[in-house]
Amino acid sequence: MKGIILAGGTGTRLRPLTSIVNKHLLPVGKYPMIHYALVKMAEAGIEQVLLITGKQSAGLYADYIGDGQPWGLQVRFGIQEEAGGIAQALGLAEAFVHPGEKLLVLLGDNLFEESFRDPVQSFAVSGKGAHVFLKQVEDPRRYGVAEIAAGLITRVVEKPEQPPSSYAVTGAYLYDSAVFDIIRHLRPSARGELEITDVNNAYAAQGLLSYSHLAGWWTDAGTHRSLLEAGARLLEEEE
Ligand code: DAU
Repeated sequence: MKGIILAGGTGTRLRPLTSIVNKHLLPVGKYPMIHYALVKMAEAGIEQVLLITGKQSAGLYADYIGDGQPWGLQVRFGIQEEAGGIAQALGLAEAFVHPGEKLLVLLGDNLFEESFRDPVQSFAVSGKGAHVFLKQVEDPRRYGVAEIAAGLITRVVEKPEQPPSSYAVTGAYLYDSAVFDIIRHLRPSARGELEITDVNNAYAAQGLLSYSHLAGWWTDAGTHRSLLEAGARLLEEEE
């Protein structure tokens, strides 16, 4: 399986910090944020990773990561010219993935306690379609939210005013290589982006969106408060 880390986007919610440096290079605990996604890839048994960034700070990623060897990975870089959405960034990975290969996709601002090793191994052997990882949250309106019926995700709603459940779809996804066909047929959302939620809904419509629950700690470090809280928590573990 291949690994894709998405670290483009504009980081608007973290301005003015992100006016000078890309969000995924901001410090979290002892490391720049991007370190944690690389660790998750290595821990999951993935060897080849494509990291998609924007143009901002692109050289700093190369300075820090190099070829990925410090993490035991082979890392390649791709540039997303404009922040056209998470699914648009993922579409740029098509040439990196051989036909029939499956992928683990991580959003660079999501921090996970749990290892993806077991789900990655079982998806590699027998997984079909797509698999997402859910976490129960207090304010689901900030996230993509799963509607679940009879043990299946029937649809995902992005940042709903009236959430269909309290289960957020976190920023870790397992896909088969059909994901690139799905992305090619997407239309931009009302905010002008190709949405990862629309990708997941295309799988859900075919009954091919499976899920599991994350038992461990998870955060999206995309706001000032969640960034600080994540840093404090990880520093405790790292000291
Ligand atoms: O954190 C989980 C949530 O992430 C999910 O529940 C949502 O369904 C999903 O849409 C996403 O929501 P956000 O509003 O938090 O997405 P954000 O724009 O912050 O982007 C998340 C990551 O994706 C970020 O680390 C950078 C990357 N990204 C984003 C955009 C818009 C790109 O690589 N390119 C992009 O164009």
